[in-house]
Amino acid sequence: MNQTTYWKNKKVFITGGTSGLGKALALQLDALEAQVAVLARTEKNLKTLAQNHPRIVEIQGDVSQKESIYPIVAETHSRLGDIEVLIHAASYLGATPLRLLVDTECEDMEQVLQTNVLGPFRLTKAFLPAMLLKQRGVVVNISSDAAVNAYEHWGSYSISKAAIDHQSRIFDEELKAQGIRFQSIDPGDMNTPMHFAAIPDANPDELRDPAESASKILQLIANQDFTPVRRAI
Ligand SMILES: NC(=O)c1ccc[n+]([C@@H]2O[C@H](COP(=O)([O-])OP(=O)(O)OC[C@H]3O[C@@H](n4cnc5c(N)ncnc54)[C@H](OP(=O)(O)O)[C@@H]3O)[C@@H](O)[C@H]2O)c1
Repeated sequence: MNQTTYWKNKKVFITGGTSGLGKALALQLDALEAQVAVLARTEKNLKTLAQNHPRIVEIQGDVSQKESIYPIVAETHSRLGDIEVLIHAASYLGATPLRLLVDTECEDMEQVLQTNVLGPFRLTKAFLPAMLLKQRGVVVNISSDAAVNAYEHWGSYSISKAAIDHQSRIFDEELKAQGIRFQSIDPGDMNTPMHFAAIPDANPDELRDPAESASKILQLIANQDFTPVRRAI
């Protein structure tokens, strides 16, 4: 479908919308006249985004905190209404420099899973009832090539991304008959603060601009192209 037609006035919630891929998605959606809410923890970055893009609704919160989920969803509902597209872009790499799995603290593994798997699970569950009522909705989990490749030092992050891929597949299998579709998308290696934290000596010229990945993701959704559930773009 034509992107302009699909996205105009669509209500979209993006976790991690103040940086990298999430921000690129938010800016492109704002330009397409979607109604966008973004979630992040750092107030200053949220305020800057909202000042420069006054139509974007900024929500401060931490997706890894169980007790934050319902306040986030309630604030989103009161400021934007029912969400039609939910994009989970926020993510935690684990302690850097990245370390071998055997040297990973259990508490750090726990935080990675809270941010990258349980947070999206809880937030999805909290937004789902409104989607189910309308029998319509799209949920996108941002994955990684680390979900399918066993890279040394990327243990906890990789495990979380493999889990989110399968979470997407199972949700999709269970809910597609009711009009709710799930996608797990590996956006490629992008020039973002997260990539710099993971691999500080990478050559930025060899990394993709997150705007390129954002544009492909928005086109996929507008095309209603939901098979396979997990893909690399
Ligand atoms: N960059 C790459 O090369 C690459 C490759 C493959 C996959 N990915 C995936 O792509 C997605 C986006 O990555 P990126 O590189 O664009 O990241 P990024 O530039 O570091 O941005 C991360 C965003 O998430 C927010 N965030 C982090 N933890 C949060 C939390 N607990 N609650 C709410 N918001 C939180 C950050 O804001 P605050 O810190 O203010 O909360 C920020 O807005 C991630 O899922 C990542 O795993 C990235």
